[in-house]
Amino acid sequence: MAKLIDKFNREITYLRLSVTEHCNYRCFYCRDDEHTPNCKREDVLSYEDIEKIVQLFAELGITKVRLTGGEPLLRTGISKIAKLISRVDGINDVPLSTNAHLLEKFAQKLYQNGVNRANISIDSLIPEKFEEITRGGELSKVIEGIDAAIQAGMSPIKINMVVMRGVNDDEIESMIDFAIDKGIDIRFIETMPIGSSGIEILSQHVSEKDILAKINNHLDSRLMPIESSKTDGPAHNFKIEGTNSTVGIISAVSNHFCQTCNRVRLTAKGELILCLGQEDSISLKDAVRSDLTDDEIKDMIINAINKKPEKHVFDSVIDNISNRQMVEIGG
Ligand code: GTP
Ligand code: 5AD
Ligand code: SF4
Repeated sequence: MAKLIDKFNREITYLRLSVTEHCNYRCFYCRDDEHTPNCKREDVLSYEDIEKIVQLFAELGITKVRLTGGEPLLRTGISKIAKLISRVDGINDVPLSTNAHLLEKFAQKLYQNGVNRANISIDSLIPEKFEEITRGGELSKVIEGIDAAIQAGMSPIKINMVVMRGVNDDEIESMIDFAIDKGIDIRFIETMPIGSSGIEILSQHVSEKDILAKINNHLDSRLMPIESSKTDGPAHNFKIEGTNSTVGIISAVSNHFCQTCNRVRLTAKGELILCLGQEDSISLKDAVRSDLTDDEIKDMIINAINKKPEKHVFDSVIDNISNRQMVEIGG
């Protein structure tokens, strides 16, 4: 089996696939107030384009394809897309990143079609605050979505909470209790300066060290570190002793995890983004719609991976990717 290895000797096994730029929420750190997606139907990867690209990536050693957005459940035919991807030889992990507003409706079908697990964003357990952060979201729908995912058999289910000083940093403890109560996992995310909305909230940044101090204080040393595997995302995870839950921290700013980066991203319009925190990208949409052979497209991918940057520069240059909107990349 071929392997995709970049020039820093990192093996790429994980593709984050954005299936739509649209989102039904408008989290203020993720997209600018006036941002509206600007894409025509023909600009967006079709089912056939997606299937082809995933097949080629699988032949190059990708084993995990995450469905993300915008909000992936808004994409027409999302269950069909899940099925196409999970049937590709070599793909053995098809997780979903969602705001879960529509998950109650989709959980069972997605699970049947190969979506084995889900990561769900919740930044507050107070309905009014949740509505404010998401500019219109409904916490009760999200909790129904989580319950439906548990019921469907998805596992693990992870909650993602972006921690912001003065906004929700007083909810770290209650979020841990909520996760333990549901028997699911929780991860706390440091804010990242992506797009102008991400840059604006840097002043509310809470570091991994401060988040960990709160977790430790709340759990009274019941944390046991967990080793990460080759296809895992960037979280540092701990098992919470005496529970079925784990707690993790994703700290892109205070702790560079780029030396273990194993992933690339594909936008809904078919741009292959080589690093979340750098501009570099190439278009794969035109390639799969042209008469290039599979081997020629795979060579394009291999050449692109060779240009994958060593690391993001969030800690030194905060506006190097100010033109990007996180909502278009899917995290
Ligand atoms: P698992 O497969 O469950 O480990 O998922 P994941 O953590 O890779 O995916 P998820 O969509 O839940 O992402 C959680 C957060 O991690 C999001 O805020 C992402 O933007 C962030 N993240 C994921 N990969 C990277 C990365 O390569 N660089 C940076 N800076 N952040 C990342
Ligand atoms: N900083 C950190 N995380 C972010 N996300 C969106 N924007 C940002 C940002 N500026 C997170 C979402 C979701 C994940 C896919 O990306 O909250 O959990
Ligand atoms: Fe919020 Fe996710 Fe939508 Fe961004 S993509 S606005 S984080 S729900």
